[in-house]
Amino acid sequence: MYNSRIIGLGKYLPDNVVTNDELAKLMDTNDEWIQERTGIKERRWIKKGTDDSSAVMGAKAARIAIDRAGLTKDDIDFIVFATLSPDYYFPGCGVQIQDMLDMKTIGALDVRNQCSGFVYAISVADQFIKTGMYKNVLVIGAEYHSNGLDKTTRGRGVTVIFGDGAGACVLSREEDNTKGILSTHLHSEGKYADKLIVKSPSIGHWVPEILDSKEEDISYFPYMDGTFVFKNAVVRFGEVIMEGLTKNSLTKEDIDLFIPHQANLRISQFVQRKFGLRDDQVYNNIMKYGNTTAASIIIALTEAWEQGKVNDNDTVVLAAFGSGFTWGSVIIKW
Ligand code: UT7
Repeated sequence: MYNSRIIGLGKYLPDNVVTNDELAKLMDTNDEWIQERTGIKERRWIKKGTDDSSAVMGAKAARIAIDRAGLTKDDIDFIVFATLSPDYYFPGCGVQIQDMLDMKTIGALDVRNQCSGFVYAISVADQFIKTGMYKNVLVIGAEYHSNGLDKTTRGRGVTVIFGDGAGACVLSREEDNTKGILSTHLHSEGKYADKLIVKSPSIGHWVPEILDSKEEDISYFPYMDGTFVFKNAVVRFGEVIMEGLTKNSLTKEDIDLFIPHQANLRISQFVQRKFGLRDDQVYNNIMKYGNTTAASIIIALTEAWEQGKVNDNDTVVLAAFGSGFTWGSVIIKW
């Protein structure tokens, strides 16, 4: 059995910064509410008319990650792409990456696990490498939320949170079993699917029916029972981090860097307090980018690495919770 190690990281955020004050012009909200409840000051939203999409942003982040890994696109054996906002209903974004990067006819897989998408995606890649099937796997998380949000007061509880962006990493075979991804831990609880959901269009409720229903039908906008999600998130984050630490005979004192999915700064801070971590042991950037769902952890990890906050031998913990419900953690010895 091999281990897998991240050898290249990249990110891409669209240029267009949308502040809380700008949102207040679209809906009944304000900077104070958004900052106090979520920690978000601004987010990036793709400007309509530009070429960016989940796949395009993912490709931009991927090129950087491959380059920083010291590899070329022809060294990549497989693609795993996590997103809830794919360019097409089908096929998935993974195959678009294969084409956009002009890669060999390698396999490409899309993962649809929303906020836990990156944790699930890297876990899949890790298994392929651990068994020896592949040597270098490209893992991408990307989201283009902004075009699918309800930008009226009706949607304010959800819309102010989400941002667009992409991150990518190259996961590579590591012969030293004490280095790289030590373990991944994945969970789901589908009975709460309707607590954070975009219901339509679905095959059972297709576009003509939505159009026919005129304005009463808003099932194509995200719905979230925010308080319920929040309460479950803080519990599951704690559990799944402990599960990862215990599996590796580690304790909370061993954590050098914790990178939570950027759902809400208050959730991250709650988990930080629970594990007694100092501010410099937790990396948050939700203030600048909002919640970028499957992209948030890999954007944050890339940014932390760019700032010199991820060092050799560090114990790095990634954890996520979100729609499904799904949640998971990744324990890494850098
Ligand atoms: O990433 C995937 C997982 N997602 C999460 O983990 C998100 C978890 N949940 C949350 O982050 C929080 O629940 C929210 C930030 C979404 C909402 O914060 P909250 O403290 O739970 O607020 P609330 O939904 O209980 O709403 C409180 C009040 C309501 O008004 P009333 O009924 O008290 O008069 C809302 O209508 O705030 C109102 N409100 C807003 N006011 C101004 C809701 N959204 C807004 C807004 N601006 N954008």
